[in-house]
Amino acid sequence: MRAVDIIIKKRDKLELTDAEIDFFVREFTNGAIPDYQVSAWAMAILLNGMTARETTALTLAMAHSGAMLDLSDVIDIAVDKHSSGGVGDKTTLSVLPIVAACGLPCGKMSGRGLGFSGGTLDKLESIPGYRVDLTTDEFKTQLREIGIVLTGQSLDLAPADGKLYSLRDVTGTVDSTPLIASSIMSKKLAAGAQAIVLDVKAGNGAFMPTVESARELAEAMTAIGRLAGRQVTALIADMNQPLGVAVGNAVEVVEAIQALHGSGPEDFMEHCLHLSAHMLLLGRRAETLERGGAMAQKAIDNGSAFEKLCQLVAAQGGDVSFVEHPEKLPTAKVIVTVESPYAGTIAGVHARTIGEAAVTLGAGRAQKGDQVDHAVGFMIHKKVGQTVSVGEPLFTIHARDHTQVGQVRQIVQDAFAFSDGPVAPLPLFY
Ligand code: URA
Repeated sequence: MRAVDIIIKKRDKLELTDAEIDFFVREFTNGAIPDYQVSAWAMAILLNGMTARETTALTLAMAHSGAMLDLSDVIDIAVDKHSSGGVGDKTTLSVLPIVAACGLPCGKMSGRGLGFSGGTLDKLESIPGYRVDLTTDEFKTQLREIGIVLTGQSLDLAPADGKLYSLRDVTGTVDSTPLIASSIMSKKLAAGAQAIVLDVKAGNGAFMPTVESARELAEAMTAIGRLAGRQVTALIADMNQPLGVAVGNAVEVVEAIQALHGSGPEDFMEHCLHLSAHMLLLGRRAETLERGGAMAQKAIDNGSAFEKLCQLVAAQGGDVSFVEHPEKLPTAKVIVTVESPYAGTIAGVHARTIGEAAVTLGAGRAQKGDQVDHAVGFMIHKKVGQTVSVGEPLFTIHARDHTQVGQVRQIVQDAFAFSDGPVAPLPLFY
């Protein structure tokens, strides 16, 4: 087989065989196919698409390009979750402890922020000492002992995806449904998931801007799951405004802790309960979604979910006193609340603008390798559909200094749209 023939076949809109896809992935992982041919192949896929079978073959080939974590000796059914990325999305920080407290052991490998979208690992590192580099053995031991793990992707899992992703990033080939779907699902399969709840975000603060494109991605991923013998539930969640109130790192950890105490923002609590219910259903701990929701609520009410978070932080070397007393978490030097200049109803809170402004403050990375500032971010006090009076708090800036405040103040204020008449609130899920 020759790489060039496989590129030409895809260029000519023909369907590749499993053997051709296996060959291509195997050979580029071991360095035998040069980057320029991999890039040409990725562009041919972006332009001409892939069938569900091809996408599944690509996913499986990438999943098998490195180690495959087998969790069957630790847990009867390994349930994972994945968010396709958004603004203010601290869901994993609350959902994992909730689900684990309900008796479903849950180990997850999370990622860092990507562009305007925050990352769970960056948020967790607000807690001094917290390790995100567990080995596979440590992962399994901790999952067995306390039923919860939250760490970074280990390097030996799905190395083909790592290689392909870094090329896609610089060759204009990120925005391809089969490439995104196979990238996400290969990592989930390699990490040992037997069942997966996908939280696919749709809106201006997501990689998929419309419900239609989010649905297409969700369908591609559920099809891969089915063909690979996994159970997959995909939810399409709104990301046209930030989720919850906090956007940043430490501020999001505080909000996730509040949610575990039952006092998080309403939209975020509801989002977490719904996701937890779906995970408990797939993990066969709840017979119905309603029962899963009730179990999740009980784990919050009786304090067991918060206790799980404390166990997790302690097990991974973090200072638990920062979770017990979140006021100890990094706080910004300058905190400025901006009041509404208008009276009316909030018609829009542009999530991407706020995510990008958070990156400007240093909550995310402008360039690969940049240090993240855990203390900075925003609190968004008003949501679409809520009324506001002149002088009411609209948002709060947590910044390093007043220069930063000047850089983002107007931009974030302009992210709010106002209406004189009533505006319907945005749905949480589509
Ligand atoms: N997240 C991933 O892991 N891969 C993609 O291709 C896009 C988002």
